[in-house]
Amino acid sequence: MPMPAAVLCGLGSSLPKRVVPNSRLVEENGLATDSEWILRRTGIAARHMADPRTSTGDLATAAGRAALDSARNLAGSPLVPDILLLATTTPDHRCPATAPEVAHRMGLEAVPALDVNAACAGFLYALTLAKGLVTAGLYTHPLVIGAETYTTALVDPHDRDTAILFGDGAGAILLRPGTASQPGALLAEDLGTDGSRTGLVRVPAGGSRTPFGSPGTTRKDFYLVMNGKAVYAQAVRRITASALAALDRTRWSADDVEAFVSHQANQRIIDDVAGRLGVPAARCHGNLRHVGNTAAASIPLALADAAERNLVRPGARTLLGGFGAGLAWGAHTLHFPEARPLTRSPHHADHQGAAP
Ligand code: UT7
Repeated sequence: MPMPAAVLCGLGSSLPKRVVPNSRLVEENGLATDSEWILRRTGIAARHMADPRTSTGDLATAAGRAALDSARNLAGSPLVPDILLLATTTPDHRCPATAPEVAHRMGLEAVPALDVNAACAGFLYALTLAKGLVTAGLYTHPLVIGAETYTTALVDPHDRDTAILFGDGAGAILLRPGTASQPGALLAEDLGTDGSRTGLVRVPAGGSRTPFGSPGTTRKDFYLVMNGKAVYAQAVRRITASALAALDRTRWSADDVEAFVSHQANQRIIDDVAGRLGVPAARCHGNLRHVGNTAAASIPLALADAAERNLVRPGARTLLGGFGAGLAWGAHTLHFPEARPLTRSPHHADHQGAAP
């Protein structure tokens, strides 16, 4: 029997209600920058920011439900996930993973559920794992969610190097078995890491290397620190190479690419990668201007945005590319899905888990 292809059959998203334009971000946090600089150097005009009560799990649950609604609308009957992968760098707790509680809140009792941490490349990592599970016949309907709350969990609001870039949100997709020629079919991928450059973007303290209370640590060590210039150069180099490897495995040239949906970190990075690949700007789709960098949520949110605005025809030859802390990167080819994306507002957890 031939191996099934993994087909993207549901698309959901969730964004916090609060929209913060550059001018307000700069003013509220006394940042030594200005609105126009941020827009010109990053392409970001505003971002959605979670209130302190809204967690990554809240956003993930809402996006996951929206993806299932979207899949039900396309299939004509409900599809039930049999495994949940949550890509996040900002889990609700340092222990345990957030995915089991998200599964519980979605009514998916007893399904396997795990977090995947590959920072901004996390969604592509989780997608690749989920694809492998479907093609191997181990699971049929993986739900893959990318969800983050960088602005409340990781970013120092007074650090202009990071505060200007990040936003919060969640995107989710459901997979099902199908054939490689269908809209939504996942085709080929490339993933990679470079752990020798971990120090370029990381949270220095709070893990086992430098636990809470370690001598010499300051408040700043518990926030994300980034060498923006070096990360930028690595992002361009790694996404480009990864995209070329994925295209090669698909037997597509850059000319074949009808839609390029990149991780949304900086418009100049996206333009530079597209230029090196030879993909025209009109084929690049993103929502960076309005949502900023939402890390592991960025690619599914950008996909949902392109589908919502009917910018890409179902079946179009599509390239995804991502890069982030680790360093970790990846690229993926697929036929653009026909699922109509749906969105839901986040709700707070109505329980705190059972006490021991
Ligand atoms: O999600 C994956 C991880 N993150 C990324 O992919 C982010 C990658 N990096 C970036 O997006 C960019 O490097 C930044 C947006 C962080 C910085 O932009 P840049 O154009 O690379 O700035 P730069 O570091 O090359 O600095 C250029 C100038 C410097 O001034 P001088 O030395 O030329 O006088 C900086 O001090 O811009 C200055 N600068 C700023 N000025 C106003 C740096 N950041 C700012 C700022 N506002 N926020």
